Amino acid sequence: MKIVVIQGPNLNMLGIREQNIYGPMKLEDIHKQMKGFAEQNKVDIEFFQSNLEGEIVDRIQECIGDADGIIINAAAYTHTSIAIRDAIAAVQLPTLEVHLSNIHQREEFRHKSLLAPVCAGQIIGMGPFGYHLAMVGMTQILSEVAAMREHQAKTQASAQQQQQ
Ligand code: DQA
Repeated sequence: MKIVVIQGPNLNMLGIREQNIYGPMKLEDIHKQMKGFAEQNKVDIEFFQSNLEGEIVDRIQECIGDADGIIINAAAYTHTSIAIRDAIAAVQLPTLEVHLSNIHQREEFRHKSLLAPVCAGQIIGMGPFGYHLAMVGMTQILSEVAAMREHQAKTQASAQQQQQ
């Protein structure tokens, strides 16, 4: 099982940028905590941060055949990027959207997420802990998917046996 974590523009500035909104924690520390959780749960994890929309689209596309689920904070692109939304829809992998801040409490232009309709769920306003919640949610989704595949394989195998 592999989860890819994608971080959008200015999230490399966490710990420096608008601490009153985003808190003092750096992105690398958030990723360290996520890696710890992944190791405990025997899940592979990979991190990617970019300030460029096209690079984020490329990384989402690369998840086909490589990852089982995506956790994404597309930051400001959440509110503007049809390209990122289309990429998420195209890869057909369970995707969770995270925002550190409660986007609904902020400026009106942040209220709308173009990504939400193509994501399995959204975790907002929980600060860095939101990424931990996303890991819990994603491991749950992935174990449900694995159990469903196992069940399908078993019913297919017994149907084939009955035909013989
Ligand atoms: C953010 C919210 C966005 O509106 C903003 O542009 C960000 C961070 C968040 O995590 O709260 O850069 O995605």
